[in-house]
Amino acid sequence: MTPAARLDELRTLIRHHEERYYVLNDPEIADVEFDALMKELERLEADHPDLVTADSPTQRVGGRPAAAFESVEHAEPMLSLDNAYSEAELRAFDDRVRKGLSADLTRSALQESPDVGRTPPPDVGRTLSGPPDLVDYVAELKIDGLSIALTYDKGLLVRGATRGDGVQGENVTPNVRTIRAIPLRLQTERGETVEVRGEVYLPRKAFERINREREEAGEPLFANPRNAAAGTMRNLEPALVASRGLSAFLYQVVDKAEASALLTHGATLETLSAWGLPVERHWRRCHGIDELVAFVEEWADKRRTLEFDTDGVVIKLDSLDQRERLGATSKFPRWAIAFKFPAEQKTTRLLRIEVNVGRTGAVTPFAVLEPVFIAGSTISMATLHNADDVARKDVRVGDWVLVEKAGDVIPRVVGPVLSKRPPGAQPWQMPAVCPRCGAALHRPDDEVVWRCENTSCPARLQRGLEHFASRSAMNIEGLGESLIAQLLERQMVSDYADVYALTSAGLADLTSTSVRSDGREIQRRFGDKNAAKVIAEINRSRSNELWRLVYGLGIRHVGERVAQVLARAFGSVDALGAATVEQLRETPEIGPILAQAVREWLDEPRNLALLGRLKAAGLRMEVPAEERAAVPAYGPLTGKVYVLTGTLTSLTRDEAAAAIERLGGRVSGSVSRKTTAVVVGADAGSKAEKARDLGVAMLDEAAFRAIIDA
Ligand code: IVH
Repeated sequence: MTPAARLDELRTLIRHHEERYYVLNDPEIADVEFDALMKELERLEADHPDLVTADSPTQRVGGRPAAAFESVEHAEPMLSLDNAYSEAELRAFDDRVRKGLSADLTRSALQESPDVGRTPPPDVGRTLSGPPDLVDYVAELKIDGLSIALTYDKGLLVRGATRGDGVQGENVTPNVRTIRAIPLRLQTERGETVEVRGEVYLPRKAFERINREREEAGEPLFANPRNAAAGTMRNLEPALVASRGLSAFLYQVVDKAEASALLTHGATLETLSAWGLPVERHWRRCHGIDELVAFVEEWADKRRTLEFDTDGVVIKLDSLDQRERLGATSKFPRWAIAFKFPAEQKTTRLLRIEVNVGRTGAVTPFAVLEPVFIAGSTISMATLHNADDVARKDVRVGDWVLVEKAGDVIPRVVGPVLSKRPPGAQPWQMPAVCPRCGAALHRPDDEVVWRCENTSCPARLQRGLEHFASRSAMNIEGLGESLIAQLLERQMVSDYADVYALTSAGLADLTSTSVRSDGREIQRRFGDKNAAKVIAEINRSRSNELWRLVYGLGIRHVGERVAQVLARAFGSVDALGAATVEQLRETPEIGPILAQAVREWLDEPRNLALLGRLKAAGLRMEVPAEERAAVPAYGPLTGKVYVLTGTLTSLTRDEAAAAIERLGGRVSGSVSRKTTAVVVGADAGSKAEKARDLGVAMLDEAAFRAIIDA
C-alpha cells in the first residue's frame, strides 16, 4: 500500500472512531488502540509532510496563539429564544402558533394574489380555515453552553464563530477545530457552503476535572460548566482549549439551498447526524401540545442522569414551511420557545446583609450566605433586590433562608424559614448613608430604589468604569474590576475621559492582589507588558463605533440596542446633544421615558464637559455617512428585497422605502430572481412586467400596507 493510501485509510478509521467515541458515545475500540492509530498517522505524516491535509485528525491543534479574535458577521442573525416557565405559558405558545398559522393564510393569500389591483375581501383568511387543531413540534433538550455557528465549504470546516451580539460574533475557528466531536470534514459530497449551528458545552465530568485541577493550582474556580465553556472558547490558546474537553451538539442548518431541500426540523436533525455531526439524541417529534407537555415533564427529573447540564427543553415547529410563515420578531423566532425547568431551591443560613452601590448610584442589598451547593455550583451570595423586598419577605440576619437558582439566573433569596428563626433576630434596616463614600442615601417618592447621589462616589465610578470598558461597550480588554479599583484608589482616574490620559509607565507600577483558594494573598506588579497591552486597547477604543460610546456612557435605560438606534438616527454626539425631547421621541423605538432620560443626562453640565473631554481625547464622535444609510441589523423583513414601482396613493416612494428598511428589509431599483416582491402602484411600467416574467411575487398597495402596518 502506498503511504498516501495508508494515510487516507488511517484518517478515515480515526474519524470513524472519533465519531463512535465523541459523537455517538459508543466506542468500538479501546483507548490504547485508538492512540496507536493516531501515533501511526503522526509518524507517517512526519515522514511525508507534503501529504498532510487540513482535515487530518492530527491538525486539530495548530498554529500559534492569536493576539485577538477577529469579528465576523453572521450570514443570518443568530436569534435568541423566548422563554416559558409553566405549562400554561407553553399552551399559550401553542395557541399563538396555531392562530399565527391560520392568520398567516390570510396574509399569504393577499400577498400571492396575482390579481394586482384587486383587493381581496378582508375576511378571506377566515373562510380558508380556522386554527389547526394540532401541529407537529420537535422537542429538544436545551443545552446549557454557548451557541456556535460552523461553516463548511466543500465539506471542510472553514469557520467557527460565537454568537456575539447575534449579528457579529468572534471567529474562534482554531478553538472549534480542537473539539473532537466536531468533524473537520463532513460525510457528504456537498460542494457548496453550508452553515450549521448549535451549542458548545462542557460535559459535567470535564468540568469537575478542570475545577479539581484549578483548585490544586490555586486558580479561581469556574462557577458552572457554562461559564467554563464560554471562558474556554474565548481562550486564545488552542492547545489549552483542546485540553479542556469541550463538546458540541448541532441543531440547525442555515444554508438556503440545503434548507429548501429539507422540509422538516426532524429531517434537519437526521441530516446533521448523517453528515457526522453530533446531534443530541433525545429529541422527539410531538404531535400537539399534550405530547410536548409530557416530554417536558419526563425530562424535569431525568435530566440529572445526563452527562451535560440542561436548563430546559426547546420546542420548535417541525415544518420548515410553517416556520417561514410565522417568521420572527427582532429577537426571537415565533416558531420556537424555550421551556425553562423550575429553579432548584435549598435552605442555608443568612450570615449578613450587605449593600452594593451600582453605577447609577442604586444601592441594593444582597445576602451573604453560608455556602450551599445548588444546581451545579456553590452559592455564597444572593440578591435581595431592594429594601422593600427585604422588608416584605422579612428576612433577618441569622435566619435560615430558602435560596433558588435557575440556570443562568443570579441566585435569589426566596424567603425565611420562620419555624427556624433564631430568637432575637432583628428586622433589617437600610443604611442611612452610602457605605463607600458616606453620602446620605435618598429615595425618590416614586421609586423603590435608594440611591447614593454623589456622582464622585468611588463605588459608582468603579461600576461606571467597568461598564464603560466592558466588552459590549468600549471593549477595552484588560481594564477590568481590579485595575479600575487601583486606578481609583490612586486617584489616577475620576471619570471616563481620564482613561485616555493613562500611560504605560503609570500602569506598569501598579500592583494587584489576588486571593488563592487557600486564602493566601498574592501581590503582583502589573508590569510593562500588561501596561502596554491595556494602553494599546485604550488607543484602539478611540475609533470604536459611536454606539459603543453612547452605550458606555451609562445613561439610564440606554442599552446596546437603544444606543445603536440613537447613533444611527442622529449620526453624531453633537446632533444627539442638540436633539429636543420631541425629536428624541420621534425616533423609532424611543419612547417618552427614554427620551427624557437621554435629555436629562445631556442637560447635566458635568456630562457635557465629559463629552467635550472625550472628543478632545480623540474618540470617534460620529457615524460614517455610509453606515448611517445602512439598514438596521435585523427585523421581520431581514433578508427580504423589495422593488417599488408606480405611484402609491397612501404614502410616497420614500416613505415606503423607509418603512421597509425600518423593518430590516432592503429596497432595490431593479427586479431579479432575488427580489422578494415588487410593490406595484398605479401606472406601473416595465418592472411589473419583468416581475411577471420572472415569476416574482407582486403586491398591490393594500397588501403592502398589510405587511408594513402589521
Ligand atoms: S434553537 C433561532 N435549540 O439557547 C433558534 N437553542 O436561550 C436558535 N440552546 O441562543 C436556538 N440548546 O444558544 C436551540 N436545542 C437547542 C438549544 C438552544 C441550547 C441555546 C442557544 C440559544 C439559547 C436561547
